[in-house]
Amino acid sequence: MNNLLSGLKAGFSSQFGASPEWVARAPGRVNLMGDHTDYNAGLVLPCAIDRYVLAGSSPRDDNEIHVLAIDANNESDAFKLDKPIESHSTQLWSNYIRGAAQVLLERNYALAGCNIAVTGNIPQGAGLSSSAALAVSVLRTLAEVSKIQFQPVELARLAQAVENEFVGCACGIMDQLISVAGMNDSAIAIDCSSLALTPIRIPASLSLLVINSNVQRALVDGQYNLRREQCHSAAHFLGKPNLRALETHELREAESRMDPILARRAWHVLDENRRVGELAAAFEREDTAAISRIMAASHLSLRDLFEVTVPEVDLLVDIVSSVMGDQGGVRMTGGGFGGCVVALLPNSRFGEVEQAIRQNYHSGSGLEASIYHARPAGGISLVH
Ligand code: GLA
Repeated sequence: MNNLLSGLKAGFSSQFGASPEWVARAPGRVNLMGDHTDYNAGLVLPCAIDRYVLAGSSPRDDNEIHVLAIDANNESDAFKLDKPIESHSTQLWSNYIRGAAQVLLERNYALAGCNIAVTGNIPQGAGLSSSAALAVSVLRTLAEVSKIQFQPVELARLAQAVENEFVGCACGIMDQLISVAGMNDSAIAIDCSSLALTPIRIPASLSLLVINSNVQRALVDGQYNLRREQCHSAAHFLGKPNLRALETHELREAESRMDPILARRAWHVLDENRRVGELAAAFEREDTAAISRIMAASHLSLRDLFEVTVPEVDLLVDIVSSVMGDQGGVRMTGGGFGGCVVALLPNSRFGEVEQAIRQNYHSGSGLEASIYHARPAGGISLVH
């Protein structure tokens, strides 16, 4: 973290001639339960992790925003706040900055010109919400420069709007909200209908291990948007405003009349919402065997009913669970189609699990996995 901050300050100074006045820090996340439920007004149980995007800024005396992306080979961008802000055709990262300015201007906030530099240590394209953290950190820093105050939920909604309205990804609100509202030592149960947040302590005997399959996800994913449309079609067919409003007996009764793909999607969402409450209760009881069972059921549902896993991710889950048994839980995490699996297990088992991955993942997939030790972390803050 200190290295990240000093790298940001050095990059900022060499580009803009002075240190940043403010630095906002937004974490990435892993989701422990509730995938593809947020945009169905459902329940999720993510935790922020100690991997971050930092956005440093200082005011300019004109009406322009100049940006440096340290991790994108020091690429830069500049745009004016009094002209229509177009999306950038080649630098995808620029669109998170341009989009942040645009969603604020569209909502009639007065923005001041500024210099911004961004850097981070959240692996990109791994499903750990580096883009949500980028949008949240940039919005927070723009708010500081322009003297605007946002409530946490408002900040998360604006960051979601950057994705939905400017970048073109129809994501839900989970990633942005946990990046804003994360807490040390806890996951947060989020009701994506009311946006109520309930901290849920992760048992002290279990630690987080995040394993990246290194199957890259596309940032703006056609398959993701397709799943979202299928969920809407299923809700529409069932005469519901969303899949959260669906009861088990209603789906059972309607199933034979439904397109089988839509029925599978609806079953996943229904069961996954229930599993969020079950996992939270298992955390409170510190019931590791139940945690193991519930996370395994979620993975199978994401594999077979929602069809968002890839063989490499399924292989990682098999390797980890065959070593760990019911001493911990493991599942894919996030949007799917590659990316990471998350495991919750005793520290003392890390060595064995890592060894099993090194022995069996490459031979079964042709890829090397990356393994991250992560800790539940606090949400957005100004660190400078
Ligand atoms: C991505 C989206 C989230 C959520 C997850 C799946 O991370 O950004 O809104 O839908 O996928 O749970």
